[in-house]
Amino acid sequence: MKDRSIILPSSEVPQKWYNVLAEFPGELPPAIHPGTKKPLTPEDLAPIFPMSLIKQEMVTDKWVEIPDDVMDALKIWRSTPLVRAVHLEKALKTNARIYYKNESVSPAGSHKLNTAVAQAYYNKTEGVKRLSTETGAGQWGSSLAFACQRFGMECTVYMVKVSYHAKPYRKSLMRVWGAKVFASPSPETAYGKKVLAEDPNNQGSLGLAISEAVEDAATHSDTNYSLGSVLNHVLLHQTIIGLETKKQLETAGEKADILIGCVGGGSNFAGFVTPFISDKLKGANIRMIAVEPAACPTITKGLYEYDFGDTAQLTPLLKMYTLGHDFMPPGIHAGGLRYHGMAPVLSFLVKKGLVEAQSTLQRATFEAGVLFSKTEGILPAPESCHAIKVAIDEAKKNKGNCIVFNLSGHGHFDLSSYDNYLDGKLEDFEYPEELAKKALKNVPKVE
Ligand SMILES: Cc1ncc(COP(=O)(O)O)c(C=O)c1O
Repeated sequence: MKDRSIILPSSEVPQKWYNVLAEFPGELPPAIHPGTKKPLTPEDLAPIFPMSLIKQEMVTDKWVEIPDDVMDALKIWRSTPLVRAVHLEKALKTNARIYYKNESVSPAGSHKLNTAVAQAYYNKTEGVKRLSTETGAGQWGSSLAFACQRFGMECTVYMVKVSYHAKPYRKSLMRVWGAKVFASPSPETAYGKKVLAEDPNNQGSLGLAISEAVEDAATHSDTNYSLGSVLNHVLLHQTIIGLETKKQLETAGEKADILIGCVGGGSNFAGFVTPFISDKLKGANIRMIAVEPAACPTITKGLYEYDFGDTAQLTPLLKMYTLGHDFMPPGIHAGGLRYHGMAPVLSFLVKKGLVEAQSTLQRATFEAGVLFSKTEGILPAPESCHAIKVAIDEAKKNKGNCIVFNLSGHGHFDLSSYDNYLDGKLEDFEYPEELAKKALKNVPKVE
């Protein structure tokens, strides 16, 4: 009997990140300075990012060496297993072969740690004392908290208020790893105070928490800002997922027909699929499906336009799929997928027709997650359930395909959401077309 789980030996963990920009079919529209409306320069980003990450944001080389200290941290949990989901296959009575890449085995429980250790390392080497960031579901905040303590840095996390109250144990984990955590909107920043004065019950959003974290970094000289998704360098760090998966599929004697991942800002999905893009450009028949919530349908209902990454309009303008920077998402349980924008690299791949997108309703994703948990034993994060749902849909078509999805994280801190699902209290929410159109009116004009 073949091994069900393929783990690469330490010596075979990829030593370089892959930069899809080197093989891009066309030029990625540059990030724009919101004041001058000119392409961003490295100096524009210097107040909140270290120069090494700014260089990575703009790098054109195909391969980027992973520093030894980052590799040393990554090897705490990497390689991550690629597992054949034989028990799920049996339950579905499908002739598809389903594999999942298990990113839930990292200390923080998701893929987010892949970039957190790299970002903390580069900031540390440039003398930065503290990192500020936002978190939705808490996966990113806890990843950065772990990475900061590993490299001897302080960490401040602005956690979207609705998650801060719904997920108290994510907050505890961040505190164990030494981070300070504030519910956002918070009285800690000028922008947070302004929002609270207008609406004391504001439940927060990722866009709003980003504004607070950016303000914190911009107003403290020893502090930089760190983002858990969207930007090119974050996607670069996540390519270790896809690079490992490629090697593991080779070991299993398989070729993927369909790659599936959930998308919030786009980092786990892009990290998983972009190492396969060169094969696709050379003619390989691989479908790549990005799955988002119907409640936050950035790609499937948004516009491909320049927009801000945050609510207070502090960030550069990025050309991306967006629902508008003042989009207030409904309180669905996949907190990490409630972002109005999408990584420019991924948006571009969608625009070029290399990646397709689907949206799914909340209850169906939990149903898929529960079936996965009953058959394969792992409780998936609500975000990852979106990928599982579409993997199951594809497997049910019985086309004998090799389907590979990225299990971006576990759901051990999401049990109250599972309780709500099991008690029949979860509601489906489809973001109305009219609201999407209204929010898009405020997208800035760029020639
Ligand atoms: C487990 C998990 N999966 C996916 C995501 C979505 O982020 P991204 O699209 O950047 O991978 C998040 C975000 O918090 C997450 O926690």
